[in-house]
Amino acid sequence: MSQRNLRVVLNSRPGVNGEPIEENFRTEECAYPHEDLLENHVLVKTLCLSVDPALRCRMNPNSGVHYMSSWQVGEMADGLAGVGIVMESCSARFEKGDFVTSTFLWPWMAYFTYPDSKLLTISNALIKSKPSLSLGVLGITGLTAYVGITQKGHVTKGSNQTMVVSAAAGSTGSLAGQIGKLEGCAKVVGICGTNEKCTILTEELGFDAAINYKTDDVSKRLQEVCPTGVDVYFDNVGGDVSNAVIKQMTESSHVILCGQISVYNKDVPYPPPLPQEVETIMKERHITRDRFLVLDYSEKFESALQILGTYLQEGKLKVKETISEGIENTGKAFVSMMKGGNIGKQVVHVADP
Ligand SMILES: NC(=O)c1ccc[n+]([C@@H]2O[C@H](COP(=O)([O-])OP(=O)(O)OC[C@H]3O[C@@H](n4cnc5c(N)ncnc54)[C@H](OP(=O)(O)O)[C@@H]3O)[C@@H](O)[C@H]2O)c1
Repeated sequence: MSQRNLRVVLNSRPGVNGEPIEENFRTEECAYPHEDLLENHVLVKTLCLSVDPALRCRMNPNSGVHYMSSWQVGEMADGLAGVGIVMESCSARFEKGDFVTSTFLWPWMAYFTYPDSKLLTISNALIKSKPSLSLGVLGITGLTAYVGITQKGHVTKGSNQTMVVSAAAGSTGSLAGQIGKLEGCAKVVGICGTNEKCTILTEELGFDAAINYKTDDVSKRLQEVCPTGVDVYFDNVGGDVSNAVIKQMTESSHVILCGQISVYNKDVPYPPPLPQEVETIMKERHITRDRFLVLDYSEKFESALQILGTYLQEGKLKVKETISEGIENTGKAFVSMMKGGNIGKQVVHVADP
């Protein structure tokens, strides 16, 4: 069958200290996968793609992380996750029409063939009706928020804890704040980059207060809204915002070191070293700040997804998404998300089932 196929290619590198731009990516036509499928392979049509901050390191010649390699200039890029539908199957595990996601990594390609060992069937009716849920709340960012809080947050019901979340209007942050409340925090405060995002946090997502780090004095506002200090900090950003939060943390409190997006366009080690003054506070107040990578907790995923699904169905978790249309806009969506253009999960819608 001759059918149009498209893929997204890394066009150029931004440089380790450069901001990614749309022109770092290009979309090109490519061959529609041959239908004489190999044994144990399936032909998949991509429905939606995830763009994630963690991909930034793959734009560098050396990704610097053990779990993902760099993208090569002129070659197809792939993301952390995607959802697709099986078009043809030569596998006992999959039938035409099955909804699938991958164990890890998803080609930025409209149609592709894949070994069945790299795919997982989606049976959840909720995801079938809205596939993008599998990229956010019922995927990596939901798991990151839930597992991060339950493994590293030391949240205890009834102990009047205050949690602060940075990048709070993003995918992980918007869920982390809500999960913090559900797990028992008395107060949750979000920090984010626009007034519109602040309003969504407090009026739609149940945050008790929100701070715009671009226009507010973060330290002053934290003192006002967290008068007893910060007991749990879900840190997505690092840098000045996080230094200001840590300075107001209580004795034996906990930083959930989820991400440090403020330095992803800088050539610094991960996690970046803290200023001496902040390091001293961490030691004096016995604040924990362990490195956290959700992929290290795969044994928790099944039970966590069940809990997240229940929260969702009971209306206890609200989901925000920013949808970009078309595979050719994948690079643009990634660049926009890195600059704060998204509210909730940044998704690329490629095709309908
Ligand atoms: N540890 C893990 O296993 C794991 C897994 C998944 C994700 N993460 C991390 O979690 C964080 C959030 O990821 P996500 O996928 O949910 O993305 P996201 O929060 O949906 O999108 C990224 C957000 O970061 C904010 N941002 C960008 N530059 C910033 C800066 N210089 N200072 C402060 N905020 C900035 C922007 O919002 P504003 O408008 O607020 O600036 C943007 O919307 C990232 O650090 C990511 O690496 C970690």
